[in-house]
Amino acid sequence: MKITVVGSGAMGSVFGGILAEGGHDVTLFDTWCEHVKAINENGLHLSGVSGDRLIHVRATCTAEGIPCQDLIIILVKSGCTAAAAEASRIFSGPGTMVLTLQNGLGNLEVIASILGPGHAIGGTTSHGAFVLGPGAVRHAGAGETILGEFKGGLTPRVERLAETLSRAGLPARAVENTDGPVWSKLLVNAGINALTALLRVPNGVLTENPWARELLAMAVEEGAAIARGRNIVLSFSDPVAHCLDVAAKTGGNISSMLQDVRAGRKTEIGVLNLALAEEGKKMGIPAPVNSILASLVQAIENSYRDRI
Ligand code: PAF
Repeated sequence: MKITVVGSGAMGSVFGGILAEGGHDVTLFDTWCEHVKAINENGLHLSGVSGDRLIHVRATCTAEGIPCQDLIIILVKSGCTAAAAEASRIFSGPGTMVLTLQNGLGNLEVIASILGPGHAIGGTTSHGAFVLGPGAVRHAGAGETILGEFKGGLTPRVERLAETLSRAGLPARAVENTDGPVWSKLLVNAGINALTALLRVPNGVLTENPWARELLAMAVEEGAAIARGRNIVLSFSDPVAHCLDVAAKTGGNISSMLQDVRAGRKTEIGVLNLALAEEGKKMGIPAPVNSILASLVQAIENSYRDRI
C-alpha cells in the first residue's frame, strides 16, 4: 500500500515506521525539517515496547512530489488538522482513504469537509509515544487501534484497513460507529491532560493526590453526562475508574499536554476540555470543571512570554 503519514512526530513515526517494516511504501511527511533530515540520512530510530531498531523509511518536508496515495494517516496536533488536510489534496485521489487517529473532537469533521466525507475514516489508538530528538522516537506503550467510517457502517474497506494495520503489527479493529471509542478516549484525555499540564506532574501523581483525583473524577463525570446526553455508548461502564486506571498504567508518562506546555507550544485544550464544555453548553448540561480547566490552560498558553 502507498501510505503517507502527515504529522510524523511521535505517533506518526510509530505508525509510519511499523507500516514500513510491514512492507508498505511509506512516506513520512512533517514540517519539522531537522527530524525529516535525520530520518533520511540515518533512518528512523524507533525504541521502546516494539523493540529497538533503525527503520529505513522515506521522509519529506514538502507535499510536492508525493504521488497519489492509497492511505493518508493524519497525526498532526489538532490545531494543524485543516492545514494537514489542505496539504494532502496534492496526493489524494478518488480512491484514497484518509484516516485520523488524533485526540479530541472535531478532527474527522474538518478532514471530511476538506477532503470529502467519502474519504474520511476516524478512530482512536491506545499507543503511546514521545520524541527523543530528531530522527528518534520512543514507542512508550502499545495498544489497540479502533477505526470506522465517517458516515458509519462496517464497510469492506475499513475491515481491510484494520487487517492491514494488524498484519503490520498494529492491532486494529473496525467498528460500525467510532463515537463510543473516540469519546471514551476523550474522557481519558479530559481527566488527565489538563490537570497534569497545570500541576506539571507525570500522569501517576493524579491517582495519589486527593485534590487532583477529585478534579479528575469531576471532569470525567461531566464528560460522561454529555456523552449520555448524546446517546453515546462509552466503552467502559465506569469512565472515572478507567481514567484512573490509564493514569496509573501510564504513571511515569509526561502527558502530551504537559509536553506542549513545557515547550511553550499551543496545546490541544480546544478539542478536549474546551470542546466538552462547549458541547455541554449547547445541550444544557453543565460542565463547569471542564470549563475552568480549559480557561486555566488557555491562560497558561497566553502567558508563555510573560513567565518569570
Ligand atoms: O495525551 C496523552 O498524553 C495520552 O493520550 C494519555 C493517555 C493521557 C497518556 O499520557
